[in-house]
Amino acid sequence: MTTTIFDDLSLWRAARLAGLRRGSTLGFVPTMGALHEGHVSLVRRSREENDRTLVSIFVNPSQFDDPNDLANYPRPLEDDLAMLDAEQTDFVLLPDQAQLYPDGYRYRVSETERSGTLEGAHRPGHFDGVLTVVLKLLQIAQADRAYFGEKDWQQLHLVRGLAEAFLLPTRIIGCPTVREADGLAISSRNRRLDPDDREKAAEFHRTLSSAATADGAARALERAGFTVDYVEDDASRRVGAVRIGGVRLIDNVPLGERQ
Ligand code: PAJ
Repeated sequence: MTTTIFDDLSLWRAARLAGLRRGSTLGFVPTMGALHEGHVSLVRRSREENDRTLVSIFVNPSQFDDPNDLANYPRPLEDDLAMLDAEQTDFVLLPDQAQLYPDGYRYRVSETERSGTLEGAHRPGHFDGVLTVVLKLLQIAQADRAYFGEKDWQQLHLVRGLAEAFLLPTRIIGCPTVREADGLAISSRNRRLDPDDREKAAEFHRTLSSAATADGAARALERAGFTVDYVEDDASRRVGAVRIGGVRLIDNVPLGERQ
């Protein structure tokens, strides 16, 4: 094991202060575990750009709008730690709920314009939970840079806004979506698709990329058997969320690159 694991935040703080005194840079990758190639890409980017890398694993209850989704969220901790060790991650933070929420979630961060659209419109309270825990984690990490995936496009933008609004010293870095060979964005939820639906799921990215309009993409996806939560274009991106076989998938593509 080259990775040092911290489940006690005060021990992490002491280690972080020692690192600051040495002047080494720290990159931070917050996750909810069940790690896959998407997470690994963030860890690799952080390792390239910083002297040390910290990964946190915390399944954050306040961002789940569906209690079943929280209960069923995979927690393969031993596999996650082995993967992080293989990636030569320096530090892993495993905080528990009592340490992260001493206030019992009485204090929370809300964004009042954009967090109620797209994902936020379908998952009430989701982004309050995300922004609140990300603020806490960024405060604890005291990192130079923090890495977030473009896969969660709205989350990335809201986190950027959070860092700006609260004058945080950490730079927020967005990283490209890692995909399966057929284009499906890698997600821990993909494992819940049965083989038929898994094959169909590749249509989601293909259709988002090729349709002339957002409405056209939504109609084509409904015809292909998906239930569409939304497909919308903004200035630079087409974002969408669909459900198939009880599994919810999200994705987004740059508008400039439509075929
Ligand atoms: P989680 O879903 O574990 O994702 C952790 C990070 O990995 C996020 O920044 C996410 O965008 C990124 N990621 C996931 N799949 C990816 C893929 N296929 N390609 C590239 N990056 C990918 O997002 C969360 O956790 C939580 O909301 C969190 C920010 C940790 C707050 O609880």
